[in-house]
Amino acid sequence: MRILVAGGAGYIGSSLIPKLLERGYDVDVVDLFWFGNYLPKAVKIVNRDIFDLHENDLAEYDQVVFLAGLSNDPMAEFSPSKNFVFNAAAPAYLCYIAKRAKVRRYIYASSCSVYGYTENELFDEDRPVSSAYPYGISKLQGERAVMQLADANFSVIALRKGTVSGYSPRMRFDLIVNTMFKSAMKDGLIRVNNPAIWRPILSIEDACMAYIRAIEASESISGIFNIASGNHTVGEVADLVRNTIEQELRTKLALEIDHIKDIRNYKVSIERARNVLSFHPHHNIRSITCNLIENMAKCGNWNNPNYYNIQVFKKLENQGETKPVSVGGVGR
Ligand SMILES: NC(=O)c1ccc[n+]([C@@H]2O[C@H](COP(=O)([O-])OP(=O)(O)OC[C@H]3O[C@@H](n4cnc5c(N)ncnc54)[C@H](O)[C@@H]3O)[C@@H](O)[C@H]2O)c1
Repeated sequence: MRILVAGGAGYIGSSLIPKLLERGYDVDVVDLFWFGNYLPKAVKIVNRDIFDLHENDLAEYDQVVFLAGLSNDPMAEFSPSKNFVFNAAAPAYLCYIAKRAKVRRYIYASSCSVYGYTENELFDEDRPVSSAYPYGISKLQGERAVMQLADANFSVIALRKGTVSGYSPRMRFDLIVNTMFKSAMKDGLIRVNNPAIWRPILSIEDACMAYIRAIEASESISGIFNIASGNHTVGEVADLVRNTIEQELRTKLALEIDHIKDIRNYKVSIERARNVLSFHPHHNIRSITCNLIENMAKCGNWNNPNYYNIQVFKKLENQGETKPVSVGGVGR
C-alpha cells in the first residue's frame, strides 16, 4: 500500500512514519519542513506546499493522511488569517484532489479542541461542538469539509485527538506533559495555570496506533473518532508527572499553582474508536513521563527554539518563509 503523509515531518509524523515503514507500507511525505527533517532515509520527501499539489500527484497513492497545518493555539492566534488557510482550506483542498485522483481513504488530523468550553460532561462525537477561538474553529472547518466528501468509494476518517505527549524524533516541549517534564528537569518546578480544567491526554504511542488502526480499518468505515489515552484535570496531570519523576529519578520537585481562567475545558468518550477501529490505548501519564525520561538525553538544550512551534513560526512569518525551506536544514 502506498501512503502519502502531508505534514509527516512534524511531531506526530516523525514518530508514526518509522512505524508505518516497519509494517511494510510504502510512505512518501509532503511537507514544508518548518521544523527540519528527522525522518528515516527510506522515506521519499516531497518538499512542497500542499497547495502546490495537483490531482496527478496523488494518482499513485492508496491513502492520504493529513498531519499538516498550524498545530496549536499560539500559532493560530499569532496569524489567524494563515491559520484558516492552512487548517481549513489545506485539508479540504487535499481531500478534494485525493478523491478526484481515486485515492481510497483520507485520514484527517482533527482535534478535541473542537469541543471548546464544555461543563464537566463526557462528550462523544455526536455532541454539538462550539469552538470560539481560531485554532478550534479552523480544525472544525477542516473536519467538516473533508467529512462531507466521504462516500461508498472514498473513506474519510477524522481522528479528534487529545493533547499528544511523549518523545518524538521531532520533539515539541509546548505540549502539556512535555512542558511539565521540561520545566521539572530544567527548573525543578512544575507550573499549573488552572488545576481544574479537563483535558484528554494522548500518548504519542497511542496516537500512532490510532493512525495505524485507521489506515488498516475496513474500507467501508468512515467517520469521526475521539482519540485519547485518558481524561484528566490539569492538576492531576501535574501530580502524576511530578510523582513519576520523583520516584524514577529520586529527586524532589516544587509545584506552583495559579488559577488562571481557561476558555477550553473538555473530556471525551473514546467508545466509538474502541468499537469501530479497535483502538485501545495502552499508555497513561506515568508511561508518557517514563518515555520522556528514557529519551531525555536525545533532547539536548531545553531552550532549543525548534521545540516550541510558536518560536519557529514567528521567525518564519517575520522572514516571509512559511513557504518551502531547504530539506537539508535543521535536523538532517
Ligand atoms: N500535537 C498535538 O497534540 C495535536 C493534537 C490534536 C491534533 N493535532 C493535529 O495533528 C497534526 C499534526 O500535529 P503535530 O504536532 O505533528 O504538528 P507539527 O507542528 O509538529 O507538524 C506540522 C507539519 O506540517 C507541515 N506543514 C504545515 N503546513 C503545511 C503545508 N501547507 N504544506 C506542507 N506541509 C505543511 C510543517 O512543516 C510541519 O512539519 C496537526 O494538524 C495538528 O493540528 C495535533
